[in-house]
Amino acid sequence: MSTVNAVVVGGGKMGLPLACVLAKNGASVTVCDASVKTVELINAGVCPFEEEGVGELLAENVAAGRLTATLETTDAVSKSSFVIVIVPVLLTPDNRADLSIIVSVAEAIAKGLQPGTTVSFETTLPVGTTRSFIPILEKSGLKAGVDFHLVFSPERVKSRSVLSHLTKISKIVGGLTPACRASGEEFYGKYLGAPISGVGSLEASEFAKVGGMVYRDVSIALANELGWYAKQLGIDFREMIRVTNTDGEANLLTPGIGVGGHCTPVYPYFYINDAIEREIPSRLAQLSRTINDAQPGECVGMLEEVIGDLANKQVLIMGLGFRPGVKEHTMSPAFLVRDDLLKRGAKVTLCDPMYTDEEITKHGFEPATNEAEAAILVTNHDEFKALGADWYSQLGIKVVVDGRGALDQSALNQAGIQVLSIFGG
Ligand SMILES: NC(=O)c1ccc[n+]([C@@H]2O[C@H](COP(=O)([O-])OP(=O)(O)OC[C@H]3O[C@@H](n4cnc5c(N)ncnc54)[C@H](O)[C@@H]3O)[C@@H](O)[C@H]2O)c1
Repeated sequence: MSTVNAVVVGGGKMGLPLACVLAKNGASVTVCDASVKTVELINAGVCPFEEEGVGELLAENVAAGRLTATLETTDAVSKSSFVIVIVPVLLTPDNRADLSIIVSVAEAIAKGLQPGTTVSFETTLPVGTTRSFIPILEKSGLKAGVDFHLVFSPERVKSRSVLSHLTKISKIVGGLTPACRASGEEFYGKYLGAPISGVGSLEASEFAKVGGMVYRDVSIALANELGWYAKQLGIDFREMIRVTNTDGEANLLTPGIGVGGHCTPVYPYFYINDAIEREIPSRLAQLSRTINDAQPGECVGMLEEVIGDLANKQVLIMGLGFRPGVKEHTMSPAFLVRDDLLKRGAKVTLCDPMYTDEEITKHGFEPATNEAEAAILVTNHDEFKALGADWYSQLGIKVVVDGRGALDQSALNQAGIQVLSIFGG
């Protein structure tokens, strides 16, 4: 196998595992990152974050000289024939895509771009964005689709299962031209090893990812709304999900206190905003966002109904992370729970086994003290599920809102602790 020089711009939770797999499969990979610390750690063979298997694979690749990291994107691109971009795009305060980082990366790439190179964007983008980078990349003096290939190939894996999913989940590849797509398909087929799903355009590839995220958000909103109905009527929604989903058609998800992370609460806006601008209806996606973002407030309201006015009451939020077992809190529902509690005058503290008190403070919360009147479970961490009634009693907690349906309700009830579950009870 001839060795390709590949560049991955963005050595984060998605970019670094991808770089490791490409290197393991024979590519010579340079990771470009803007963080000095990240570059130093990667070059030392140390993974800057927790992700199963990545530390070992990185150390192996660095030791074998197959993977290095640099701050110099332009220089690395000038020596490469395949460039992958996987840096963050978040939301501006008015829910627009903040393209500032990725545009600066496109500019750095343009300065080093060589004839025959393929540039593949993997960061989730609003439809049409990859094409909008053409004028920037053409500042290289090269013509897109003629002198260099342009591809959009969304990253669709998620933390905690990145390595196993990278090679299993099919890699969607769309190109500016059929030759661009073919170049992407050939590279990913050879060096990633995942099944390839080619699509007809850059835009189809962008929309495949964004549409998938809208599907997820709408499905969660449906579960949340049906869940409240079941709760009001005293129907066991967990049981209902189990039996409803046996027909081979339904795939009801579980309700929850809210949606967090880089993806689900963010990407629907890429579609919604563009649809609004184009005057194309996007009602379902808009309503789903509203329903899901209302969940934290609904859960706080559930607590207030039981213990009365929350003013000056000490409430403990259990969990900063938006997913169990992962130290990731981007757009975690914990923030909305905190804001809603503060609005009602409560005194709010937070505990999370994955964060130190210093980190909890840095993220805008008061670390837990040894007393609270009520608790709200936000994150389904194993450590929280393992807590016995004594833990709550010692703190003085008499009521717990179980925003994930994760706690042993009957055991806590027996010990005199009331559990207000999102699933009823
Ligand atoms: N995190 C997920 O679960 C997930 C899942 C699927 C897809 N994605 C996609 O991957 C993208 C990246 O996510 P992530 O989790 O890897 O983010 P991350 O924050 O873990 O990593 C991003 C990396 O990019 C680097 N960076 C920032 N600006 C840069 C610049 N100008 N030049 C070079 N490097 C720069 C950062 O230092 C960081 O190391 C997301 O925006 C999303 O589109 C993420």
